[in-house]
Amino acid sequence: MEYRFGLVGYPIEHSLSPWIHNKFILKAGFKGNYALYEINTTESFADRIKEIKNDMLDGFNVTVPYKQTIIPYLDDLDEKAAAIGAVNTVVCKGGKWTGYNTDGDGYLRSLIQAYPSIGQDTNKNVLIIGAGGAARGILYTLGQKGFNHIDLANRTLDSAHKLKDLFNLDNTNLLTLSEAENVLDSYDIIIQTTSVGMKPAQEKTIVNVNKLTKENIVSDIVYQPVTTAFLKDAENAGARIHRGHSMLLYQAQYAFELWTNIRVEINEMDQELFRQLEG
Ligand code: ATR
Repeated sequence: MEYRFGLVGYPIEHSLSPWIHNKFILKAGFKGNYALYEINTTESFADRIKEIKNDMLDGFNVTVPYKQTIIPYLDDLDEKAAAIGAVNTVVCKGGKWTGYNTDGDGYLRSLIQAYPSIGQDTNKNVLIIGAGGAARGILYTLGQKGFNHIDLANRTLDSAHKLKDLFNLDNTNLLTLSEAENVLDSYDIIIQTTSVGMKPAQEKTIVNVNKLTKENIVSDIVYQPVTTAFLKDAENAGARIHRGHSMLLYQAQYAFELWTNIRVEINEMDQELFRQLEG
């Protein structure tokens, strides 16, 4: 089989997706390629999308800032992507485009891969830090999988309130960041979903994690730097950590699966990507 995939976004010249998907293509024993469609924010999005239609791709990913912009150009929208309000994967079949969101599922797959017991116990107490697009995808997916003790902490409580109302989360407590800091060790899983700690302001941590122990799993979706200051502090305190680069791999694995029906094993790619990001 020969496949043609792509990525729509801006800026994407340093994207890791071509490396990941070209590896998947080889691993699955296919031929094909993964092209970059960088759409500058000054260009006409509609015109560039027409060009992509003409290229007859089998599927493409969508990244910032177009995860919502793409929606009116689709023929169909998966229920989960509709609920999250963002699309990161488009399947093209017979000229028909269907939008999906694999971010939340990719995230949960990567977390369960690292800590399998999480997959068997949805009673865990979870704290999500942040209330933006990434938090929304993860929150929705965890809720769907049956996790029912999820609290939200955010700098501004207003956006956390909106998220709580959007998904009718009656059991969810909302916390300010300083409130969260005081009770952080009461959560089994703490998930950092904001951009705080990302290069270049990488020394910043959103909340102090010094009280944590090995009873706490601390996850950060930021993957540049590959070990954020937040994760370093958590690890030094004794907590178990989960790095953001694996979410990147597993959301891609799920996208590839939607395009080809093949679930490629990640195995050594996790370490390879870790080393690339570290270097
Ligand atoms: P994304 O879609 O990538 O999640 P976003 O929608 O811009 O990004 O959301 C950013 C999240 O990061 C929000 O939760 C935001 O908090 P507010 O709702 O209070 O704005 C959080 N965030 C961004 N910068 C932050 C900072 N310096 N300190 C604390 N929280 C921050």
